[in-house]
Amino acid sequence: MIDYRALYPQLVDTPLQAIGTALPALIEQRFSPQHHGVFEKWQTALKALPAIKADSVALNADAISAASNADNNTRQQIEAGLKQLHPWRKGPFNMHGVHIDTEWRSDWKWDRLKDHIAPLTGRTVLDIGCGSGYHCWRMAGAGARLVIGIEPMLLYVMQYFAIRHFVGENNTYVLPMGIEDLPPRLQAFDTVFSMGVLYHRRSPLDHLIELRDALRPGGELVLETIVTDGDAGYSLMPQGRYAKMRNVWFLPSVATLEQWLKRCGFKNIRTVDVNRTSRREQRSTEWMTFDSLESFLSPDDPTLTIEGHPAPTRAITIAERA
Ligand SMILES: C[S@@+](CC[C@H](N)C(=O)[O-])C[C@H]1O[C@@H](n2cnc3c(N)ncnc32)[C@H](O)[C@@H]1O
Repeated sequence: MIDYRALYPQLVDTPLQAIGTALPALIEQRFSPQHHGVFEKWQTALKALPAIKADSVALNADAISAASNADNNTRQQIEAGLKQLHPWRKGPFNMHGVHIDTEWRSDWKWDRLKDHIAPLTGRTVLDIGCGSGYHCWRMAGAGARLVIGIEPMLLYVMQYFAIRHFVGENNTYVLPMGIEDLPPRLQAFDTVFSMGVLYHRRSPLDHLIELRDALRPGGELVLETIVTDGDAGYSLMPQGRYAKMRNVWFLPSVATLEQWLKRCGFKNIRTVDVNRTSRREQRSTEWMTFDSLESFLSPDDPTLTIEGHPAPTRAITIAERA
């Protein structure tokens, strides 16, 4: 089930060969009880998912889905297996009638960006910090030739395998790695997505340079991050937590973000969307039962986080490698 055999031939003798070289050692190290104590539980859950043929698969729809007329018993088996992989944060998915109502309506983010990016048809795409792989499937659904997602949290990689079990590979692969594991200066991808990652990086400019170096010349970056109000040059570095998150470093203004991109070797930089995250887009559900945005905001003023910072507002900025 945890199987990347179909990926390797697609990397051989291409500029992505270094990924194929690095992958076996990462797989050996990451998919192991030593790396994560709950790995065996997740693996057992994956193995217990019923083998069921889909009559249809939809990757180009709000909910990534595999459909059939599965009976009640099969649906219960699917639901029980997938619930072992709680919390489901990025989605939604619908597997044979089991609707995975994830914490995030990730389809809304996709809707905000899809008409602004270069068409993905035939492109080789990298999605950094892809979580469960929801957007990777959308990229495949939009016609990408090969989609590689990278994600260091093993649980989310297991969620990808659970979905792949039902929808098939579709040239879409989520690899158990962080950006620091990606071979440097690949200069190979036609499009690189970095969504929800920049504010977690201690050195955001180095992150932008890594993104640039993963792209072929002229390739497109799709960057999504939390921003704050302010002039060019301003960015907020929260002291302590931001919306209860410990690892938030820099929240630039849109003008600062664009300036950073320019200084890091991007051109044709444009911010195509700025959106305050709503409590309808990010919320607790049956599939993500922990606290969510509602309890990360000030109870007195939802325009502020619980710590008193501006509430999360996200920008989507698109640029080309110069
Ligand atoms: C806020 S989520 C965003 C998920 C998805 N890209 C989206 O926009 O919905 C950030 C993701 O980045 C991953 N991440 C954290 N550190 C990373 C790193 N060093 N390299 C790649 N991904 C990382 C996290 O595990 C998490 O899944």
